[in-house]
Amino acid sequence: MNAPTVLVTGATGTVGSALIPALQARGAHVRAMVRNPERTVPGVENVIADLQDPGAVAAALQGVDAAFLNSPSAEDAAELQIQFADLVRETGVKRLVLLSQYGARTDSPVRFLRWHAEVEAHVAKIGLDYTVLRPNLYLQALLLFAATIAQGWFAAPIGTSAVSAIDTRDIAASAAAVLTSTGHEGKTYTLTGPRAVTHAEIAQALSVATGKEITFQDAPPEVFASQLAAFVPSWQLDGLLEDYAHYARGEAAEVHAAVADLTGMPARDIADFARDHAGILGDA
Ligand SMILES: NC(=O)c1ccc[n+]([C@@H]2O[C@H](COP(=O)([O-])OP(=O)(O)OC[C@H]3O[C@@H](n4cnc5c(N)ncnc54)[C@H](OP(=O)(O)O)[C@@H]3O)[C@@H](O)[C@H]2O)c1
Repeated sequence: MNAPTVLVTGATGTVGSALIPALQARGAHVRAMVRNPERTVPGVENVIADLQDPGAVAAALQGVDAAFLNSPSAEDAAELQIQFADLVRETGVKRLVLLSQYGARTDSPVRFLRWHAEVEAHVAKIGLDYTVLRPNLYLQALLLFAATIAQGWFAAPIGTSAVSAIDTRDIAASAAAVLTSTGHEGKTYTLTGPRAVTHAEIAQALSVATGKEITFQDAPPEVFASQLAAFVPSWQLDGLLEDYAHYARGEAAEVHAAVADLTGMPARDIADFARDHAGILGDA
């Protein structure tokens, strides 16, 4: 495949910001789609567009070979992604790589997984060369607990269940591989870390890396919810509780080989994440 031009949505986000250098390393030309002109990405072409604005999105898609769709966590996430996929087809862009989520299923009790499944089903039927990436829980989501980790603890309603959580750098590396090579049409890749870990094991890895004692405390869902209620809208908080109930039921513990298969490198372990983020988490 000749060096493609790739439109990256969510370019300022967790996966998008790691995807850009990964694509550049593979020789791709990157067009970063950002919604705020004051938050452009240095070193690449930028285009200003909000997913809510179909005209701007259609203009952003002009002339690209492939698009990476990363949805914001929004109540209308499915609608926005379906609109984006339709614009990909209408503008003649050949290829779409969709960021979904581990366990996406139309009958899931987790709203985010139902929304992702709805988008996947739509993308599969509109005649695109598409690939779905279904990452598990992001290890980088631990950074949201930085304030309490600084005090030596973090809490979540997950009990002793293990999750094959993934480092977002590996999601980005996998996406870059798919966007710059052939043979992925119509495929769905479940992206996980190299093993399933409990939150107590995560705390242990953070303790080793930071040299400070960090403990995990299981939190009843209602306590967790009351701590977040002031910061997170209720629809999102309810969705987050559904996500955690799914993890606590042990439904997100499978380990898949897709990261290594796609990138040629093993997926990063929690010990790698902890070491690389010890500065941020240890000094928070
Ligand atoms: N967190 C996890 O553990 C996890 C696990 C599996 C899958 N996922 C999936 O990952 C996706 C999002 O992840 P995240 O919460 O970590 O977010 P994120 O990708 O870190 O941030 C959201 C990105 O979307 C951009 N954005 C927001 N609203 C937009 C709009 N209306 N138009 C265009 N761009 C917009 C944001 O731009 P600004 O900088 O302008 O805000 C930002 O770049 C979701 O689909 C989620 O289901 C997450």
